[in-house]
Amino acid sequence: MKIKISPSILSADLGCLANEIRKVEEGGADYLHIDVIDGVFAPNISFGPPLIKSIRKYSALVFDVHLMIVDPERYLDEFVEAGSDIITVHIEALKDPSRIISRIRGAGAKPSISLKPATSLSTVKEFLDEIDMLLVMTVDPGFSGQSFKRDILPKIREARRMIDQLNREIDLQVDGGINKESAPLVVEAGANVLVAASAIFGAPDVEKAIREMRESCSP
Ligand code: DX5
Ligand code: ZN
Repeated sequence: MKIKISPSILSADLGCLANEIRKVEEGGADYLHIDVIDGVFAPNISFGPPLIKSIRKYSALVFDVHLMIVDPERYLDEFVEAGSDIITVHIEALKDPSRIISRIRGAGAKPSISLKPATSLSTVKEFLDEIDMLLVMTVDPGFSGQSFKRDILPKIREARRMIDQLNREIDLQVDGGINKESAPLVVEAGANVLVAASAIFGAPDVEKAIREMRESCSP
């Protein structure tokens, strides 16, 4: 299975963001992970649709937008219009998951669901067949630079098993503390999309960081 790498701009130098994005794009990234945090669903405040709209013209990467906000449905159209390709919403923030999933798809983006480390996979099971990606958080949402929670590995394995029981291609993304040490562990457990902020944007050589992460998880 091809591993996709999605650098998170939460650790980028926002003063020269277009340049930072160009570096990961030229360095072999597959997606660009954009963490939207509202200070309510998770601590920290980051970016919104205007930022996505302004960087859209500088990059052809798949925009992988991770919404850590309450009531994501309220701003859904703005996020799609701004240029999001994949939209991840948190199961903990949803009243009617099927409705928002079909609204995301209807608006022309790929729907994805995420769950916090403490949330059980049973909460997302019935919606798996409706989504294109499942994001299993490997740290509590909010900040980059946290340590990978190794005890999430069995959950990743179980998520992969649940996905493989369905006859559809569904990506399994992991997010939080992913670096060249944890990447092979999560890939072995079944993840195929790796988000990384500090391990890529915090590295002196972004291209080398992406290459080494890819190499670390190839058998
Ligand atoms: C955390 C965000 C992550 C974060 C990852 O809430 O969802 O995407 O940027 O940062 P690292 O890779 O540094 O753990
Ligand atoms: Zn994220």
